Amino acid sequence: MIKIAPSTNPEKEEDLVQYVKLLEESGADYMHCDVMDGSFVPAKCLSSEKLFEVSQNSTIALDVHLMVSNPLQIWEEYYKSKPTILTVHYESFESKNNLFYMLSQIKNKGILAGISFKPDTKIEEIEPFLPLCDLVLVMSVEPGKSGQKFIENSLVKIAELNGIRLQNKYNFLIEVDGGVDHTNVQKIYQAGADIVVMGSAVYKAENKKVFINKIKHLVTNSK
Ligand code: DX5
Ligand code: ZN
Repeated sequence: MIKIAPSTNPEKEEDLVQYVKLLEESGADYMHCDVMDGSFVPAKCLSSEKLFEVSQNSTIALDVHLMVSNPLQIWEEYYKSKPTILTVHYESFESKNNLFYMLSQIKNKGILAGISFKPDTKIEEIEPFLPLCDLVLVMSVEPGKSGQKFIENSLVKIAELNGIRLQNKYNFLIEVDGGVDHTNVQKIYQAGADIVVMGSAVYKAENKKVFINKIKHLVTNSK
């Protein structure tokens, strides 16, 4: 069964605590928490203090996506919120040794360690890190904002990653982020995704619970 992770990005920060509570009650599996620093991507959002406040007011599993230039320097501030998943970007690291170190630090804390990569990054570039990863977050839009169109070629990447996973008996999860909605979720699942992020699709849905159930049914009936 596919897992659904609505994202924090479309909601205003002052309303985030309420929004996360609503999604928890509506049956979302994770809350995908988009952290932007105004450097790795132009926008800036979700301070560690705000995430901590969210974590204190909800029991939903937090899936933190760090779109920042210096994950090694800031990740511990976000660790305070006890995320279930913490994902860093391949492109944030000039030193690949630092990326290995970062992933092992996350794992040492008992958190699922995720790696994400932008649409133009090739899978060969992230392959050396896969044995260490608990999750791979495929960006199906350019990171930076909600509401963009799903890049179709991402389906090929998901299938390729799924193939690598099967061939090497790796057990990382595949999560897909950007432009996911009711029109493409079946294809994304069939290509090998385990978790889908849904920002604007969930935000726009009038009844979140009905929408989440509808997506789960669509996917269940597609395999
Ligand atoms: C984009 C963010 C996404 C975003 C997804 O950079 O990483 O998590 O919130 O929103 P939608 O589903 O609207 O593309
Ligand atoms: Zn994200």
